[in-house]
Amino acid sequence: MSAPNKTYDPVEVAVLAPEEVQRMQAEALAAIAAATDLDALKAARIAHAGDRAPITLANAEIGALPPAARAEAGKRVGAARGAIREALGRRQAELEAERDQRVLVEEAVDVTLPWNRMPAGARHPVTTVGERLVDVFVNMGYEVAEGPEIEAEWYNFDALNFPPDHPARETQDTLFVAGPDPDQRSGLVLRTHTSPVQIRAMLTRPLPLYVVSPGKCFRADALDATHSPVFQQIECLAVDEGLTMADLRGAISAFVDVMFGAGLRTRLRPDFFPFTEPSADVSMECHVCRGESTKPGAEPCRVCRSQGWVEIAGCGMVNPRVLVACGIDPDRYSGFAFGLGIDRSVMIRDGVADIRELHEGDVRFSRAFGVEA
Ligand code: PHE
Repeated sequence: MSAPNKTYDPVEVAVLAPEEVQRMQAEALAAIAAATDLDALKAARIAHAGDRAPITLANAEIGALPPAARAEAGKRVGAARGAIREALGRRQAELEAERDQRVLVEEAVDVTLPWNRMPAGARHPVTTVGERLVDVFVNMGYEVAEGPEIEAEWYNFDALNFPPDHPARETQDTLFVAGPDPDQRSGLVLRTHTSPVQIRAMLTRPLPLYVVSPGKCFRADALDATHSPVFQQIECLAVDEGLTMADLRGAISAFVDVMFGAGLRTRLRPDFFPFTEPSADVSMECHVCRGESTKPGAEPCRVCRSQGWVEIAGCGMVNPRVLVACGIDPDRYSGFAFGLGIDRSVMIRDGVADIRELHEGDVRFSRAFGVEA
């Protein structure tokens, strides 16, 4: 049995030599001191205290020493590792404090700085389209006529030949501001259409009469993708001698040409409105597929739901009873009228699927239509 190797000198394990350990420690401390930010410190930590750091590898060599030599080498390496760990911890704290300080300065917001208080907005497409349509009719000799948004029930319904029990008057459809008073005078409503302006125009303006009336209308509808309690209509009224439905069609074509592009056909189908007789709904040839989607095997069209036609307006010849209510001789004069939703026309023209987009007031939506002065 051989005696313990008394002559074994731990210095012979080169990496455990005191000066080697000393050098590793010095290098580590220098690298730690040189780290000027947290990333650099992280790199120093990996290089000098990580699994593959010289001092870690040296530490693993201790087991190879004879038991007598282990304690001393272990103490030496342990002290060096402790010093490195301690330096890392101290530098980490310093750099974190420095970073926090810098963030406070660099990311500070000076709420007193002046800013651009007048960012360029954009006019709403419902406004610009409405104005353009008005211009078209003004160029054809029409005058702009406006009426109040809070309207007497008499103008909104009675004078327009709505019978007293007409369902449109029900509170589900009409927003009442005040009911009829005890003297049975007319109540007040938020106008449900622009047609009461027809009555105001016929009662106050000389004949012949050509007016265009844009404006807000209100109905007791909850806001969803296809309904809005507030919307805008534009309405045309002409009263003259000898007007016929041919004149009505001409006026409608002028509107369609401007709004959707020239050359689209229009179609009138019988409908009913109390204030026009005969009445019709107006459709135009689909401006997107031009009827192509109705052909067998064709791509479906989202805009006209492959019908080829899109309903855009209500129209008709002014009901003689309405003329009489306004003191106009129906044997001498006739009139035509048509009305349509501006919001709806913008939606059809520009493929806006959800009416809420028109009302949310997000300037990015309006900007997409171009900023018009
Ligand atoms: N006022 C009708 C509506 O709101 C539209 C219309 C106007 C119909 C003029 C005929 C003539 O639906």
